[in-house]
Amino acid sequence: MLFDLTDKKIWVAGETGMVGRAVLRALETENTHIISAPHSDLDLTNQQQTYDWIKHNKPDAIIMAAAKVGGIGANMAKPAAFLHENLSMAQNVIHGAFQAGVAKILYLGSSCIYPKMAAQPIKEEALLTGTLEPSNEGYALAKIAGLKLCQFYRSQHGCDYISAMPTNLYGMYDNFNAEKSHVIPAMILKFHQAKLNNDKEVMLWGTGNPLREFLYVDDLSHALIHLLKNYSDSTPINIGSGHEVSILDLAHLIQNIVGFEGIIKFDASKPDGTPRKLLDNSKIKSLGWSAETQLSQGLQKTYDWFLNDRLLSCQ
Ligand SMILES: NC(=O)c1ccc[n+]([C@@H]2O[C@H](COP(=O)([O-])OP(=O)(O)OC[C@H]3O[C@@H](n4cnc5c(N)ncnc54)[C@H](OP(=O)(O)O)[C@@H]3O)[C@@H](O)[C@H]2O)c1
Repeated sequence: MLFDLTDKKIWVAGETGMVGRAVLRALETENTHIISAPHSDLDLTNQQQTYDWIKHNKPDAIIMAAAKVGGIGANMAKPAAFLHENLSMAQNVIHGAFQAGVAKILYLGSSCIYPKMAAQPIKEEALLTGTLEPSNEGYALAKIAGLKLCQFYRSQHGCDYISAMPTNLYGMYDNFNAEKSHVIPAMILKFHQAKLNNDKEVMLWGTGNPLREFLYVDDLSHALIHLLKNYSDSTPINIGSGHEVSILDLAHLIQNIVGFEGIIKFDASKPDGTPRKLLDNSKIKSLGWSAETQLSQGLQKTYDWFLNDRLLSCQ
């Protein structure tokens, strides 16, 4: 083990988000001290507040899971906000951590950092070898800057800052807001509402043809703890399930889980995004981690959570 978590002070930035909550669940079995700063108390786009908070609380390690996150529609509508806010958060947390002498950072990027037409499955080496998918370019550029900050603080100052690039995630506490959600919560919500309304059809964006990889968020959190302990290198590391599914097949899976009996239609005038996106996960597998949750199991758990917890909390 390269970094022993025992008795370490850990800050999970973005603790109220889907990933942050999953990381906190995974840390429950580790002997650590968790320190907390939710968005309501600390705006990470505020440079001075962020520097001061890190200096005052001085974590031993930071898992940087705070970000402005959204689906294609939100990214296309507000590219400036996605670039500006994510860039600010990355700079403020990483430089603030450097100033305070924080020993380890695990920065979360995303698979959208890779070129739109990268060879599949996408290896870590594909970074900056081609043009990005335009629909989320602002977000991707901010994530690339964040991972470069980790690399450069390592090369210039010897900091043990690492970055991980997860594939598309889903699970408990995903964002079910119709305007901002990713494909899985958006579909769950649509099928659920269509079932309640006895609708005859559900209309989905795009052609249904793109291939996507999905990872259940509790698999991700175990990967992150594994990397925190065992990975120390400048190369960002992919985290993926290794399995891909077409949007059409995903829709059928979710339709069955929700129990919607109408038909599915696709609006091909809406963008598909990248045609295929599968991460090469051989590097993290060689470190002894692989995903455990099958897509159908993870979708069922997510829908159960949506029905039992999420809907109750909104009443
Ligand atoms: N979701 C995915 O499919 C996916 C895939 C690959 C990578 N990732 C990466 O994983 C990380 C976490 O994503 P997620 O899905 O957990 O997102 P999320 O559920 O939207 O959570 C984001 C977290 O960041 C916080 N946050 C946002 N703006 C902030 C600010 N200005 N100051 C302080 N905190 C702020 C949010 O707090 P509030 O809610 O209170 O604003 C929330 O706790 C991100 O870096 C994302 O890029 C996600």
